[in-house]
Amino acid sequence: MRADHSFAEHPHAASEPSQSEVVIDLEARAADWEIAPGRTLRCWTYNGQVPGPTIEARVGDTLVVRLKNSLDEPTTIHFHGIRLPSAMDGTQVVQPTVAPGESFEYRFMVPDAGTFWYHSHHNETVQVERGLYGALVIRGVDEPVVDRERVLVLDDMKLNRKGEFAKFGGWVEQHTGREGDVRLVNGQSEPELRVSAGQMERWRIVNASNARYVRLSVGDRRFSILGTSGGFIEAPVEVSEVLLPPGDRIDIVVGPFAEGEVISLDSLAYDRHAGKRNRERFATVRVGTAERSSAMIPDRLRTIEPLAPNNAVTNRLVKLSERLSIKRGTDFLINDEMHHTDKPVTVGELQIWDIENASHMDHPFHLHGFFFQVIDVNGVAPAFLAWQDTVNVPPKSHVRIAWMPDDRPGLWMYHCHILEHHAGGMMANFEVVRTAETGSKAMPSCHT
Ligand code: C2O
Ligand code: CU
Ligand code: CU
Repeated sequence: MRADHSFAEHPHAASEPSQSEVVIDLEARAADWEIAPGRTLRCWTYNGQVPGPTIEARVGDTLVVRLKNSLDEPTTIHFHGIRLPSAMDGTQVVQPTVAPGESFEYRFMVPDAGTFWYHSHHNETVQVERGLYGALVIRGVDEPVVDRERVLVLDDMKLNRKGEFAKFGGWVEQHTGREGDVRLVNGQSEPELRVSAGQMERWRIVNASNARYVRLSVGDRRFSILGTSGGFIEAPVEVSEVLLPPGDRIDIVVGPFAEGEVISLDSLAYDRHAGKRNRERFATVRVGTAERSSAMIPDRLRTIEPLAPNNAVTNRLVKLSERLSIKRGTDFLINDEMHHTDKPVTVGELQIWDIENASHMDHPFHLHGFFFQVIDVNGVAPAFLAWQDTVNVPPKSHVRIAWMPDDRPGLWMYHCHILEHHAGGMMANFEVVRTAETGSKAMPSCHT
């Protein structure tokens, strides 16, 4: 399939729910990838490209992803944000890794509209950095009309003087996470995007970096948030910046711009207390001649019922911390344990989790397979209601989330989405069980 796989050929009209099968072949393989004219890098790719092909489907479709592993090491794919069955989650507690030369078929229904992504979930610190990730766009029946839609997958790569991937690992990288100075949008180093004056575009933005926080600015202009990692918010919210930790997505509407404008798509200065970054460019937007606009952004996008009252009582503490280790430099912990096994949760029982960051640096908390709502951050309710699967937890802070385990029993996971912290132990497996009595089977231990 092509990267620009278009939905024009789709047999269903946009007004009816779809139930088609969308079949995609993804071959994980090494390939030379040109990140800028004349600058080629040996990457690990899906189908020879970085990012892998954008997978597009409609709510209700069944996605069939046939992974063939042509790498020299095992791999799996995780579909980040999709409410799929546990067996399709791509972690090693639910499937054996796919050995070199082997294949695996993922098959699941996609129940929610939004901007998701897929990525390797084995030896992630290396495999995702080398390019094994791609966007996954699920469209609902009633999407706002825009003049153009783009998917922008942000990433950074850490290269050495020869322009190859710098050596992986080491104490500093394991502690802070791997950040690099080559900033990519859709696999291109600081590319130019051309937009037409007078038009409004919808940008679906994914942060696929191992560790870099993107404090997104569109040339300091105002733009509207349409959705977060869990799909639409209730109504567009105008802002001039948004923080995207690793793993997170944001859906925005930009424009209209005036002809001749040159706008820098930047990440503003941010201190995550494990490396401070100044303002840095990801891309340049050039505004060409004016085109007619037929964009129609509704005032209301959907209704989100609050899952829990503000005074909901916490029923689980998830403590993120770190400790010095003579062997590894830093151990990353959940509830004082590396690679933690957390208590089971029961289908239908509202979860109110207090995620405490007892460490000195930011950690992006990610829950597999379920959306949550943030209740409060250090006691303060967020500016708007949203569904999400990833949330930044600032140092010495508490973020309370509410989520409801629907009837998808099995093994699940949560972790810090700084991939080096996940690998360094800041993760937990837990089971979703149908009744309280059947839970807490022994679980195989899993490190990624
Ligand atoms: Cu994108 Cu286990 O995560
Ligand atoms: Cu995930
Ligand atoms: Cu972390």
